[in-house]
Amino acid sequence: MPSFADGNKDGIGDFKGLTEKLDYFTHLGIDGLWLTPFYTSPKVDNGYDISDYYAIDPDYGTMAEFEFFIEQAHKRGIKVIADLVLNHTSSEHKWFKESISDPHHPKRDWYIWRDPVEGNPPNNWESFFGGSAWEFNEESGQYYYHAFAKEQVDINWANKEAKHAMFEVMAFWLNKGIDGFRLDVINFLKVNDTFKNNPVDENNQQTHLYDKDQAGILELIEEISSFVHQFPDKVIVGEVGSEEIDVLSTYSGKNKLDIVFNFNLGSIPTFHVDTIFKQLRKMEDVHHEDQLPTLFFSSHDMPRHISRFGDEGIEEERAKLLATLMLTAKGVPFLYYGDEIGMRDLVHHDISLMKDIQGVTAYDLAIAAGKSKEEALVMANEKSRDKSRSPMQWDNSEYSGFSTVKPWIAFPEIREGINVKEQLNQFDSVLSYYKKLLELRRMHPALHHGEYELLEKNGDMIYFIKSAKGERMMVLINFGEIEVPFPSEAHSVTDILLANKRKNVDGTIQPGEAFILYLEGDKA
Ligand code: GLC
Repeated sequence: MPSFADGNKDGIGDFKGLTEKLDYFTHLGIDGLWLTPFYTSPKVDNGYDISDYYAIDPDYGTMAEFEFFIEQAHKRGIKVIADLVLNHTSSEHKWFKESISDPHHPKRDWYIWRDPVEGNPPNNWESFFGGSAWEFNEESGQYYYHAFAKEQVDINWANKEAKHAMFEVMAFWLNKGIDGFRLDVINFLKVNDTFKNNPVDENNQQTHLYDKDQAGILELIEEISSFVHQFPDKVIVGEVGSEEIDVLSTYSGKNKLDIVFNFNLGSIPTFHVDTIFKQLRKMEDVHHEDQLPTLFFSSHDMPRHISRFGDEGIEEERAKLLATLMLTAKGVPFLYYGDEIGMRDLVHHDISLMKDIQGVTAYDLAIAAGKSKEEALVMANEKSRDKSRSPMQWDNSEYSGFSTVKPWIAFPEIREGINVKEQLNQFDSVLSYYKKLLELRRMHPALHHGEYELLEKNGDMIYFIKSAKGERMMVLINFGEIEVPFPSEAHSVTDILLANKRKNVDGTIQPGEAFILYLEGDKA
């Protein structure tokens, strides 16, 4: 939200800016947007700490500007889903202010309060940002629970009134015309009421056994789902923090979340064809008919994949290959702004410029553990999610056309040629390649929602055949350094819909090449 386009020129992205850029999405062929939280927030964690669920943060504009944005998006056939944080509120939220004010306050139980155990926190649960998940409150002598920052206080979903209040929040935004939600850390809503310690291994790594995926969570998800789906044509995308695809898959499908992210694919730290292929296969094996895989490699929580995966010299090539995969394999693709022009990571050389709480916390913990400032900065950059949060690069001016004043966050060092204006007219730019893929995806049911007839790998080439509505397409993507022969299924093919390098086929797929071949059907 804060980094896409700054309409009122204060250095922070806003609804005015987003509205002005709607034609860009149309031009590119995007038909749905997911916005990170835009509600009033002290922004300790990029807006994932909401202090008023019913208002637009003044940095992002007014309610009227939000409504105008939705209206204009819908006019262009673009759907908008809102990121909603149901797990926790900001410590600045009035509910929490009431809860903390007095142990006998009716809202005390809206949050999770526990007594100390022998002068210590109630248990060993760790915050996902590091350190204890319990914060002591001197006045009452109790601790409150926060799975993330201490300014993000977990709601007690066992409390009926708190739960009801959150359902009212959902209704409010659905009535405003939002097309659905991306539900933040949705498998965290319930914690184990025995409050037992989480297991810790010999390397001091904690397994989050009792603070997520707890009994009753799926019933709660079903309630949320049936509530949201009373409103027609709404979609719920869930962020389910789990590495277990079998666990993930219990959260989606009929009466549950419509889609859940598979981070085993999306957030792999380094490039690995085998892992990518294994995940594509696994999603196919595990998912039931009513479940769709997700296809993404970047987000506001992880480094950009072009920086993460791109071996030196072939960054753009790899970005194009991955775009081919995301936009043609089976599933719902999520593209992260700026990836379509190949934007790079923002790495800080000065800790005072770092905005992300996860990075700053890592820095503070490193210093507290006796590390030097240089070492702490390295560790902070490793954790920092600023990497992918720099301003969108629209042109090659000083502030990249994002704003006319200095933006709230810095730009990456590598910026030259990486902007919309320059790439729009270059036929072989990353942007043009994305545009072409999106166009093909829209035109061809086999690419858009086809089922796999075949999903294979030969060396480092992933290839598959997908079909729908009498159309059959073959996609071949050679991620490796060795040429691979055309698979037998593609021998007779001459009809090439897309090729990223050579426009002809000679029975081989060269390193870094991708092809989309037309096997059968009425070609549009
Ligand atoms: C989700 C968000 C992340 C946020 C966290 C806590 O993982 O994607 O940005 O920090 O939830 O709300």
